[in-house]
Amino acid sequence: MRSVSSSRIALSSAPLQRLGLRTVSTHSAQLIDMSKTRPLAGGDVISAKQFDKSSIEYVFKVAAGLKKEVERNGGVDLLKHRVLANVFMEPSTRTASSFHAAMLRLGGAVVPINELTSSAQKGETLEDTVRTMENYADVLVLRHPKVGSAATAAHYARIPVINAGDGQGEHPTQALLDLFLIHQERGSIDGASITLLGDLKYGRTVHSLSVMLALFPGIKINLVSPPNLAMPAEVVAEVKAKGITVTETADLDAVLSTTDVLYQTRVQKERFASLEEYEKSKGAYIITPATLSPAKKSLLLLHPFPRVDEITPDVDQDPRAMYFKQPQYGMYMRMALLASVLGKEGPVL
Ligand code: NCD
Repeated sequence: MRSVSSSRIALSSAPLQRLGLRTVSTHSAQLIDMSKTRPLAGGDVISAKQFDKSSIEYVFKVAAGLKKEVERNGGVDLLKHRVLANVFMEPSTRTASSFHAAMLRLGGAVVPINELTSSAQKGETLEDTVRTMENYADVLVLRHPKVGSAATAAHYARIPVINAGDGQGEHPTQALLDLFLIHQERGSIDGASITLLGDLKYGRTVHSLSVMLALFPGIKINLVSPPNLAMPAEVVAEVKAKGITVTETADLDAVLSTTDVLYQTRVQKERFASLEEYEKSKGAYIITPATLSPAKKSLLLLHPFPRVDEITPDVDQDPRAMYFKQPQYGMYMRMALLASVLGKEGPVL
């Protein structure tokens, strides 16, 4: 267990309590201290709320440097002999693979764990899993179905913990890769009009993304969802507190023509109380080539994937479709985060 820092930020414990979870220290959600030479070294990545604009720009810079290294040499041995515990207690294709590939391209090794083969099946607690894995690894990436689980893991771990998705809570590394893509493809995030679409209630990617987007000047955020899948009020309040213009509507057409970035999401079937409730909500917004005809030529269409039916495959040929580029940016961003929390990013800056 690591000591509590005075620079911690208040993460709401309400979601933990709602889910009947014990509330533990939020020490891990420390604001990133940009006065340090290596600001993320030894820390955890748990919440979007830890970041300010300059710490996001810092990881962009590290990721861009690593991108060049991969393009030139296939990778760089910044984490030789370092081991990642890649603990995935929920299904994943992209996030698990991109952390795994990122660690390999940094010259490190990976111990993968998943929910089907781990002792979680036998009833082992997260605390015990973490306190075991830290003996084998230098950094731990965790995906888990419970909100607050990454903060719990960080509370018990001596090694840095990175949140790869905690239930319907947050997904900060996905938000960072999405922002990195927007930054690289558009030239800047400032002043963009962003439309988040679909299941904004249960979709953790859009929770983290909204909080980080609100740090950029001149941003306008449109939240488009059916009323029963609206963005949680606390996320909307956090964004508005930064002085950002937020429009909440169920009508995509009302905002599409002025949108610079359209972020589609999957209706999160696994988070609904009943299948019946899910059936009522699915298929609310399906993007087809016709949907995109009033949109800007310069639009960026993102989706964290997996997609079910939210974007029809005939949209894939549209140059505005960015969802097969996101995994590429994701690997560079995860390389940047792994190197940074281990304090090894220096040479590529
Ligand atoms: C997302 C997730 O797991 O939250 N996927 C991802 O990490 N790329 C989105 C989703 O599952 O719909």
